[in-house]
Order: sequence, then C-alpha cells, then structure tokens
Amino acid sequence: MSNLFQTYGRWEIEPATASGSWMTDVCGKKYLDFTSGIGVCNLGHRPKQVEEAVLTQLNQYWHVSNLFTSSKQEKAAQLLAQVAGMDRVFFANSGAEANEGAIKLARKATGRTKIITFINSFHGRTFATMSATGQDKIKHGYGPMLETFVYVPYNDVEAVKNAMGEDVAAIMLEVVQGEGGIHIGDQEFFNEIEALCQKYGALLVIDEIQTGIGRTGKPFAFQHFGLQPDIVTAAKGLGSGFPIGAVIGKEKLGEYFGPGSHGSTFGGNPISIAAAIATMEAIFQREQLEEVIEKGNYLINQLNDQLGKLPFVHDIRGLGLMIGIECSFNVAPVLAELRKNGLIVLQAGEKVIRLLPPLTVLKSEMDEAVQILTSIMQKNNDAVKA
Ligand SMILES: Cc1ncc(COP(=O)(O)O)c(C=O)c1O
Repeated sequence: MSNLFQTYGRWEIEPATASGSWMTDVCGKKYLDFTSGIGVCNLGHRPKQVEEAVLTQLNQYWHVSNLFTSSKQEKAAQLLAQVAGMDRVFFANSGAEANEGAIKLARKATGRTKIITFINSFHGRTFATMSATGQDKIKHGYGPMLETFVYVPYNDVEAVKNAMGEDVAAIMLEVVQGEGGIHIGDQEFFNEIEALCQKYGALLVIDEIQTGIGRTGKPFAFQHFGLQPDIVTAAKGLGSGFPIGAVIGKEKLGEYFGPGSHGSTFGGNPISIAAAIATMEAIFQREQLEEVIEKGNYLINQLNDQLGKLPFVHDIRGLGLMIGIECSFNVAPVLAELRKNGLIVLQAGEKVIRLLPPLTVLKSEMDEAVQILTSIMQKNNDAVKA
C-alpha cells in the first residue's frame, strides 16, 4: 500500500535522469518530454547556466529568511519588473501562492471584494485560488467557496459587461486558458476588459503562471495583445524547476503591501532566486523569444499537415510553444499510447492534447514528436473505421 494520499493519477513511468528535451526512466527507456514538467522546465531539463547558478548559491548559503537584505532578490525583482513594464514584486513559492497574493492585493488596494474570473479558468488549489477557478470538478466536496468570485464565459464581452460594476475589485484572467483546454483570448475581448477596468476603477490581474516566462514567445502572453495589467502573476517557468512564484504589480499598489501585510518563510529563497535569475537571463533575449514563435508556428503547421484531416481532430491551436490538439473524445487513452511509444504529452480539459515542449526544443525533436503523434492518431483512426 502506498503511504501517499492518492491525489494524482500517476503515470507508469519513473524518471531516472533527464536532460534537455529527453528523459530516461528507471528501466532505461528514453522519452521525448513534451510536458516540460507542466510548463516549468522551459530551458529543458537541467540547463547548464541554471545548474551553475544554483551550485554557486548552494556553496554560499541556503536559507536565511526574508528579514535580511537580499541584492539577489532585488535583481530578480528588477528583471521581472523591467520585462513586464511594471514596478513591484513579491516572491512566493508557487503559482497558487502568487495568485493568492494577487487576490489579497487587489482586495486591499480597491477596498472591494468582488472579482470576475472565467469559466474553464484555473488559478490554483488554495481556498482563494480554488474559489477563483471556473471549474466545478476542482471544488467538488470542499463545501462553500469564497464568495468573492463571479464566473463568466471566456471571450464573451457582453457577459463581462453585465457582471461589471463599481463593486468589482478586479478582473482576473489567463491570456491562454491552459488547464481549461488551450483557449486563447480575443484581442477585442481583452480591449473591452481593459476599458471596463479603467471605467470602473477595477484592477486587471493577469495569471501568467503557465503562459509566462517565454512560453508563448513573449516574456508574458499579455504582451501579444498590448495590455497593461495592474497585477501579473508568474511561477512555473520562472525557476526552471526550483519552486518560486511572483506577484508583479504597478507602483501605485506598493503602499498596500507594506511591512507585515503579507509574507512567506520560503518565498524568494536563495536557491530558487539564483535559478530564476539565470533562467530569466537566458529566456528574456529577443532571439530566444523569436525562436519560440518560429518553432511554435512550425509545430502547429506540421501538426495541421499530418493530423488536420483526421475526422476526430476538431482544432489545432496555440500561441508560441503552448499548443492544443482538440479531439472529439477523451484523449487519456491516446496519451497512454503516446507514452508507450516514447512521447510524453499532457491533457487539457477532457478532449485536448496539450504540448508544452521546452523552448529549447530542436526541429528534429519536433519532427520526431509529430511522427509519433501521427502514427498513434492514425492507428486510432483506423480502429474507429474498422
Ligand atoms: C494558470 C495557472 N494558474 C495557477 C496555477 C497553479 O500553480 P501551482 O500548481 O504552482 O500552485 C496553474 C497550474 O497549473 C496554472 O496553470
């Protein structure tokens, strides 16, 4: 019997080593990893520059607490703020914690409690972020949620207008809904939301936990749409696998997060900060980000060529290297077949195969992944026809 709470539907693979886009399991079988630890290892597994930064920090000190001055936290904050076009940063340990901080900050700064979020959104597993999440299955059995949130359909301008008012503290959204099925927001939808926030004095909070740190070919996905959020949250890709989250805010919010107003023992710990600085220095380079867009377009085109005509493939969509293949059925069995054939991918919602390869993925690796996907999906097609 396992001593673990069985909170995860685990796969049959136990990793032994991983490097770049590849993983080898304890039986010696090699896999192409198109999950990046769920959008975390954006530079691939064990990137050299992050390893070196972490080893240097390990040889200096591990933990001292946030009571000490930290020029390294300052540097990480400066990198994040600069690239986001914002001013203030609070470091947490995870995506949910970053969103929790954003929700607290939005409520405190506006003196209001109502926050609009979206159906099919995902914001985390703490009580506030679970409440913010627009998916019933995440909340099942936990009793009454925080009353702060109202949920409206994504990409539905009229629904947002109807929910909006002087009592709204914030609109909180993902630019691409990740867990909910790779749904990309429209420019018009985002423009209207920004205008509504300005009209009613509400804050625009963008959850970039999955979309941020170069995943979509910009440092943050909101930058594809020219948005100017008040608060942005980041986590996953920020530490290349070392746990870290961040609340990034505009200067005007600084006064609401003063001494004693929020905190975390481990938030911004030296090891994760060292990893984050090295990660950001590698990812936030123009050529690196342009390559992500080129690779994303290449992968989507290849997938369209090979899979687009299959009758059960409804849509292939994405932004940068965050790509979804929407099918007409639950894709879990297809994912299992892909793993058996050496390709690890994710599910988003019930019917979407989600690809989150590392941003450093090679063309040859994308070709190999497309070839495995094509052979398994074609087999599936033949089975349906037979
Ligand atoms: C958009 C988004 N927000 C928040 C979270 C929660 O992050 P974490 O699991 O680090 O708490 C996730 C995780 O998948 C996410 O995709």
